[in-house]
Amino acid sequence: MKVCIVGASGKLGNYMVQHALERGYEVIGVCRERSVGKLDAFKGRITAMPGATNDPAVIRKAVEGCDGVLTVLVPWGVHQYSSGTAQAVLDFARPGARLIFSCGWHITRDGQDVYSRKFKALVKAVSWLGRLVRAVDVDDQVEACRRVFASGTRWTVVRGSDLEEGESQGLPVWSRHVGDPILESNLTRRVDFALFMVAALENDALIHEAPAIVGCRTPSALACAARPCAPAT
Ligand SMILES: NC(=O)c1ccc[n+]([C@@H]2O[C@H](COP(=O)([O-])OP(=O)(O)OC[C@H]3O[C@@H](n4cnc5c(N)ncnc54)[C@H](OP(=O)(O)O)[C@@H]3O)[C@@H](O)[C@H]2O)c1
Repeated sequence: MKVCIVGASGKLGNYMVQHALERGYEVIGVCRERSVGKLDAFKGRITAMPGATNDPAVIRKAVEGCDGVLTVLVPWGVHQYSSGTAQAVLDFARPGARLIFSCGWHITRDGQDVYSRKFKALVKAVSWLGRLVRAVDVDDQVEACRRVFASGTRWTVVRGSDLEEGESQGLPVWSRHVGDPILESNLTRRVDFALFMVAALENDALIHEAPAIVGCRTPSALACAARPCAPAT
């Protein structure tokens, strides 16, 4: 399998490169020119393509012939970086390719997610402050996901909980809606977020799903493994 990782130089991207190489995939990694050095550990094992991830020409070349595209959607800046990146991938990935996108729990597909007051206040504050200092545009990440959901591609949008570093604990568990008891612990190892995304490439049951994930060793995941939890929504 040949896969393209868009945003390969970041923390999540680096872990995805590792998982993809472990599976024997051929890897193309796209990252900003200034960040190519962050991929030095993989020199000779992947093809690095420098460029802005929202540049259609860069993405067109990078995804050519790829069976899967793993995209890190980040809300940085105020120049439609997220939606531009998603659109380029949607436009140029070959028909039938598996497309996996990352985001956080704040993205909702069907409006059925149940958020705590604290979570809603935090997202509101980050959105407001981010726009004020022109560093973060959460609405653009929302727009990026809206376009993915509306596309006719074979997409999966993986919604990450709070993240922590540490050794892998295994494949995270997931649920369709934030607020479901299994997700209560709200914590996933970043290496396992990446594992879930790479594993989704070969899991057709996740096509057209927006799984909200949580670490498989967290208290809420373990409690629901011992005694199945009904979804809250
Ligand atoms: N952090 C969390 O707690 C959390 C929680 C839930 C979900 N998520 C999701 O996880 C994904 C990545 O999260 P992460 O925390 O692990 O971050 P990360 O992997 O470090 O990713 C950051 C990415 O953003 C790029 N980037 C940084 N500054 C940028 C800028 N000004 N303009 C354009 N690109 C820029 C980085 O590229 P360079 O290498 O070129 O800098 C890198 O590809 C995102 O989809 C996020 O929504 C994160």
